[in-house]
Amino acid sequence: MLQKTPTPDHGPDFVLDLEDPAFVRDPYPTYAWLREKAPAYRWKARGDAIVFSRHKDVRALVLDRRFSNDYRMWEFARKEEWPAEHAEYKSIMDNGLFGLADADHLRVRKLVSPAFTPRAAERMRDEIQKAVDDIIAEHVKGERVDLTTITEPLPMRVVSDMLKIPENLRGEFRAFGQASIRSSVLFNKAEELFELIAPMPRWIRMLREVIAERREHLLENDLLSTLITASDEGQKLTEDEMISLVHALIVAGSDTTVHAANWALYSLLRHPDQFSLLRDDPSLIRNTIEETLRYDLFGKGGLPKFAREEMEFAGTKLRKGQMVMPFIPAALHDPEVFPEPERFDIRRDVSQTIAFSAGQHFCLGAALARQELDLVVGTLVRRFPHMRLSQEPQLQPHPIMRALTRLEVTLS
Ligand code: HEM
Repeated sequence: MLQKTPTPDHGPDFVLDLEDPAFVRDPYPTYAWLREKAPAYRWKARGDAIVFSRHKDVRALVLDRRFSNDYRMWEFARKEEWPAEHAEYKSIMDNGLFGLADADHLRVRKLVSPAFTPRAAERMRDEIQKAVDDIIAEHVKGERVDLTTITEPLPMRVVSDMLKIPENLRGEFRAFGQASIRSSVLFNKAEELFELIAPMPRWIRMLREVIAERREHLLENDLLSTLITASDEGQKLTEDEMISLVHALIVAGSDTTVHAANWALYSLLRHPDQFSLLRDDPSLIRNTIEETLRYDLFGKGGLPKFAREEMEFAGTKLRKGQMVMPFIPAALHDPEVFPEPERFDIRRDVSQTIAFSAGQHFCLGAALARQELDLVVGTLVRRFPHMRLSQEPQLQPHPIMRALTRLEVTLS
């Protein structure tokens, strides 16, 4: 059988393959090889990008202003015209927080930030707790339950409640977000990309209708109304930026937290001693969540960034426009920073975590995600203190995430 996980003897000719099922199940030997043998791994198959995997390099990279998140700066950025029916979607991507740079990025981010501070997340605690309780009541009927049925609806519900998206559109917007994540991969071939984004015009129309309707009837305590008011007040937020921002919240705010919750629960279930520790001392929940994100993060690599200029970074020469990839999950297992990284320890010092990145693009939704994870994981452990895995979970192919799709437990 072809050895897909590099052994210590592999040279830098080893070809990284994020689709390989062995990697998806357990990427940590590959990450260790990268850190030790190829800390600036040249990934020719992926646009000749350079992958950084050591904690100190990944942290320095996300903090370094000489890199941009704007994919249009990529030396191999798609130059061909997009079909006219997709011009609108392209504009959404270009105007979103993930695409904007510098002053525009700062301006949009500043506007939306107050809704995402730790204090704002704390104010949402009761509402999120109620959502968790409702979902549990709806899905737990017998002795066995697939925990992904509980984690799956929560984040979309939370972000939809913040934006007061009508109930009948939430399923559509969830699909919109999922398709957007898959289509954000820069290596999709043109035909694949256009197939993925075929339904976008319909979803974009729905989003515009929701916004037009809200403009007519602004609501209290509603993030969308706040954004509309901001865009109506002139230069603060253009219409396109507002649509892009709402889209970004739907995209970034749902799948990420679903998979984070699944892996968090799986990590606890795989380590009954740690599960018991948390059950006996619920005050450990905050640290537990941070450790689950460190120990088994759902992302396969990291969001790509692009060199704004020709430069040297961490001893590697980079071309202007060259893609670099901060492999955050690899950095979170760097023994230089996290001793015995393969040990899951909910009391570990996780202050050096970069699960949510750092610097100007630090995850906008970090406090909200932490709050959701605290409440869904904490509540499940409290309500079902004797739950245990009844079978190994299932994984599904996904371009950028290790997607755990079934997590079946017996409750007592
Ligand atoms: C456990 C769940 C989550 C993780 C691990 C996570 C992680 C990340 C990471 C690594 C970045 C990239 C930062 C960079 O470019 O260096 C990011 C960006 C972002 N995240 Fe999250 N995220 C999560 C949940 C959320 C949620 C719930 C929301 C919103 C509702 C959100 C909104 C965003 C936005 C808008 C950005 C772009 C920020 C910018 O470029 O300024 N994320 N996230």
